[in-house]
Amino acid sequence: MQVLSVTPEIFPLIKTGGLADVTGALPQALAGFGVGMRSLVPGYPVVMSALKKKKAVHQYTALHGGKATLHAAEVAGLDLLVLDAPHLFDRPGGPYGDATGADWQDNWRRFAALGRVGADIAAGAAKDYKPDIVHAHDWQSAMTLAYMRYGEATQVPSVMTVHNLAFQGQFGVNIFAGLGLPQQAMALDGVEYYGGVGFLKAGLQAAWAITTVSPTYAQEIRTPAFGMGLDGLINLRSPDLSGIVNGIDDDIWNPETDKHLAATYTAKSLKGRKANKRAIEERMTLDRDDGPIYCVVSRLTWQKGIDILASIIDPVIGSGARLAILGSGDAGLEGALLAAAARHRGRVGVVIGYDEGLSHQLQGGADGILIPSRFEPCGLTQLYGLRYGCVPIVARTGGLADTVIDANEAAVTAGVATGFQFAPENAGDFHHAILRANALYADPAAWAAIQKQGMKSDVSWDRSAQKYAALYRKLLSKRDA
Ligand code: ADP
Ligand code: GLC
Repeated sequence: MQVLSVTPEIFPLIKTGGLADVTGALPQALAGFGVGMRSLVPGYPVVMSALKKKKAVHQYTALHGGKATLHAAEVAGLDLLVLDAPHLFDRPGGPYGDATGADWQDNWRRFAALGRVGADIAAGAAKDYKPDIVHAHDWQSAMTLAYMRYGEATQVPSVMTVHNLAFQGQFGVNIFAGLGLPQQAMALDGVEYYGGVGFLKAGLQAAWAITTVSPTYAQEIRTPAFGMGLDGLINLRSPDLSGIVNGIDDDIWNPETDKHLAATYTAKSLKGRKANKRAIEERMTLDRDDGPIYCVVSRLTWQKGIDILASIIDPVIGSGARLAILGSGDAGLEGALLAAAARHRGRVGVVIGYDEGLSHQLQGGADGILIPSRFEPCGLTQLYGLRYGCVPIVARTGGLADTVIDANEAAVTAGVATGFQFAPENAGDFHHAILRANALYADPAAWAAIQKQGMKSDVSWDRSAQKYAALYRKLLSKRDA
């Protein structure tokens, strides 16, 4: 079975968040289940320069205002179709905005073009290739499914995966004419969204099946509190909705072989973690002592609850813990964290920026990882934490609720606890969870037990890849029915 994955990000080529980790890992994970996955990605400069050998499989003389070429290429074991459209993608900055972080004004056009090409491939435009299924990720890829629905590929089953409902690709009505869709698409059951055009909305409407990245989030987004204006539509489509939790790439995230670590280690012997902890103290100019270090590796945004963290830093430091924080995002939150670091020299270390290597070092040396998200579709850093014996302390929401077992009395007694959960958006309960962690940390045997239990949890892709494969098969039988 051949599946075309359409995505705006893919690890290791281009990454702003967990989406890239997922689309980068899924092809390999699916290979074991008889699914061949090719990924259509935009030809950003970093992607184009990574292509050693490429083969043109389709040409456009006019794609949304310019010439474009679709290339087939293989990079880092990924089977890629790269949309080389210089007028849309050849520019400095990030995938969605310039170096200052401001969104590109023509994002609607850039990702409409990606969708148009995805639909063309579904209809057989790429030489020697026709997918059986199309799988689109987030709003940037969602228009693929709309172009399929109003074009030639209506018989190709499709999956829309929502990684984060907060990002919807909502634009003014004025862009509709530029999409090249038939007038009938500008309707309540089409691409129309609150008087404008909604890309994710259009994809949710057109998809044969909808998935999101954890069972709990799949339930949450049916409510007004988490539905971000789309809960009505999601409820209507709930018979076709499921939640499949993300896995992690075991080769990239493996404490036994991780080249970013000062010392590698195994679940049997956690000794190497000590050297990694010392390395963190050096790197983040923290005092050297034997109390716990809790890390944060995150986008610094409202979603991630970083303001809630900032509000309890003083008492957390007062409890004897140290903090090692890596992230970037909202200027106000960056400022609040830097101010805390200045207030608590040697106790709070903050690195503002994006640093893949340091993210591994923190997981390999910190004692726990704090994730106070207001909502979290899946979350990957708690999964890395579990794999690395960096005990997750998480808000009980979305994928965090589904993947971490709270160290309550019963779970500790039964030996199944893997971390700590607290009530979301509740600073007091967050603080309390950290105090609970401190108390357990003070008992080395109990702490080692929770670390080892986490390291035993199955965070691999196997089970989830099997679920995607089963979903694809179900859609193929629906097509043939
Ligand atoms: P989201 O996609 O919502 O940001 P996830 O937990 O799914 O959240 O994925 C975040 C990914 O980005 C993880 O791989 C995490 O390690 C990485 N990450 C986040 N911030 C940074 C940073 N400042 N430096 C390095 N990696 C980061
Ligand atoms: C999104 C979500 C995150 C999820 C990731 C990959 O960025 O915010 O929770 O883990 O996508 O699915």
